[in-house]
Parts: sequence; structure tokens; C-alpha cells
Amino acid sequence: MGRLAWGCLVMGFVMFLTVPGALAWSKEGHELTCRIAQSLLEAEAEEAVKKLLPDYVEGDLSALCVWPDRIRILYKYRWTSPLHYINTPDNECSFDYSRDCHNANGVKDMCVAGAIKNFTSQLQDYRQGTGDSRLNMTEALLFLSHFVGDIHQPLHVGFTSDEGGNTIALRWFRRKSNLHHVWDKEIIVDALKDYYEKDLELLLEDLQRNYTDGIWSDDVPSWSHCEDLSNCVDGWAKESIQVACRWAYKGVEAGMTLSDEYFNTRMPWVMKRIAQGGIRLAMILNQVFGASQEGFVAAA
Ligand SMILES: *[C@@H]1O[C@H](CO)[C@@H](O)[C@H](O)[C@H]1NC(C)=O
Ligand SMILES: *[C@@H]1O[C@H](CO)[C@@H](O)[C@H](O)[C@H]1NC(C)=O
Ligand SMILES: *[C@@H]1O[C@H](CO)[C@@H](O)[C@H](O)[C@H]1NC(C)=O
Repeated sequence: MGRLAWGCLVMGFVMFLTVPGALAWSKEGHELTCRIAQSLLEAEAEEAVKKLLPDYVEGDLSALCVWPDRIRILYKYRWTSPLHYINTPDNECSFDYSRDCHNANGVKDMCVAGAIKNFTSQLQDYRQGTGDSRLNMTEALLFLSHFVGDIHQPLHVGFTSDEGGNTIALRWFRRKSNLHHVWDKEIIVDALKDYYEKDLELLLEDLQRNYTDGIWSDDVPSWSHCEDLSNCVDGWAKESIQVACRWAYKGVEAGMTLSDEYFNTRMPWVMKRIAQGGIRLAMILNQVFGASQEGFVAAA
């Protein structure tokens, strides 16, 4: 092969790896969710999580919360791709587990809601000593942590025909983007730039302030209340498609330019969903690994 051909091949591969919008909550979104979650772990859960993480992350769960996005393109993990989202019928603005939770071949449970139930029950069985030893519990923890983030990204529970906004090409201020990517990344990155000196730490502190004694502090008990995990997870998916309809899709058409008005009115929703994801991930991990060993009623 000539140099040009090699160049094209390499370029093609690089583009394939970086195709925008094919990923989930950006790195920033997942990192925030996992950092919030880890800060809310009780001692037993904190210890169990640290034991499952590889040494090189030094106990920091958030360092690997994007792992499921990095590996989904590998042949071995291709089956995990549908676990990042749910396609719901166009314009219905509802989620029904038995109708919507399947992959493109119709295999049941292969969606983000099914995955959260699956990996929670794997971790719960492991905790109770009844797990299947062939399963990798480090992977289960990373998948769970990632997917609890994803299910809170409203457009990960979006319409089928536009692939959760991925095919709605538009401009975000002057940049080319698409609606899905605006919610995954653009809003978070611009919020960091405009309000937090590009410092994720400052944004994290603001989120934490808002749920400890700020605008959301009264809501936290209801966010994290959960007895039957299966119902709770379905509820989170329903919240997402409703926010998607009322805020993400609303007034948006392909080819438009979204700017200040959209940014200012949608940013609070992005932040709230990130906080909810973190608080709920902590709730799951505390229930699974907590001292009480109560666990959930029928996790899967
Ligand atoms: C549950 O996990 C197992 C093993 O990791 C996997 O084979 C199966 O496809 C998963 N199902 C879902 C819905 O996540
Ligand atoms: C579990 O999965 C992680 C991530 O894929 C891998 O690095 C590790 O070697 C696996 N552990 C076992 C015991 O297979
Ligand atoms: C926290 O709440 C204040 C209002 O009290 C709001 O201005 C700010 O944007 C919120 N921050 C985040 C990250 O949600």
C-alpha cells in the first residue's frame, strides 16, 4: 500500500474512533456522576468499590467511568453497544420496559434499563456469595456506574428514528454539532467555560452545594428513595424521555442554530440529571454493599 492509502486508512480509523455523538454523556458528565456517587458512599460500600478497582486508579472510580464507551467498539464488547440507551417510539414521550427495552434484533433486556438491573443483580449476588465466578465484577461495577449516568442523559432515552437526536444535525453557536451531542457534551463544556473557569472541581463543588443545602436539598430524599430497583430504574428512564420531549427536542429542527436561549434554559436540566445520576448510583452501591446487607427486593 502506498503512503496515501495508509494515510487514508489511518485517518478513517481515527475518524471512526472520534465520531461525535456516538458516545454517551461526555467524559465530563460521567466523571461528575461518579465523583458525586463516590463522595456519598458509606464505609462498607467505599471499601467494596475500592477492592474491585484496579490498583492503578488508586481508588478513584471516576477514572474508569468512561471505560464502557472506550471498549464498546471492540469486537469482544460489541454486544454492549445497545446497553447505553433506549429507543422509544417517536413522539410518544413514554417508556414501557416490555415494549422498548430490547436491542435491534429484538433481544429483550438489551437496553440501558435492563443493563442497570443486570449488573446490580450481579453485584448483589457477588456480595451475598452466590455469584457466578465466571463473571468479572470489576466490569460489572464499571458498567453499572456508567449506565446509571447514561440513563439520566435525557436523549439516551430518545426517539427511535433520530437515534436520540444523533441524526438531528445543527449548529451549537458557530460549531457544527447534533442535538444528542449538545446534551452529551456541549452544554457541560460551555458551562465549565462560562461559569467555572474550565475547572471540573469548581463545577463539582457547585453541584454538591446545590444538593446538600441549595436548590435541590429538599428533593434528594425523593430522588434516592428506592425499594424495588426495577421500578426505580424504569422511573428514571421515564423522567429522561419526558425531559427529552419537554426540553431537548422542544422547538428544535435539523439545520437550526442553538445558542444562548437554549443554553440558559437547558443547562439547569443537564446539571440536575448529573446530580440525580450520582445520588442514585451511590444509593445502589450503598444498598448492595451496605452494612445492613438488605439489598433490593428482586434486583432483576
Ligand atoms: C448481563 O450480563 C451478562 C454477563 O455480563 C451478559 O451476558 C448479558 O448480555 C447482560 N444482559 C444485560 C441486559 O445487560
Ligand atoms: C476483569 O475485567 C478487567 C477490565 O476488562 C480486566 O482488566 C481484568 O483483567 C478482568 N479480571 C479478570 C479476573 O478477568
Ligand atoms: C446551583 O444553584 C444555583 C442557584 O442557587 C444556580 O445558579 C447554579 O447554576 C446551580 N449550579 C449547578 C451546577 O447546578
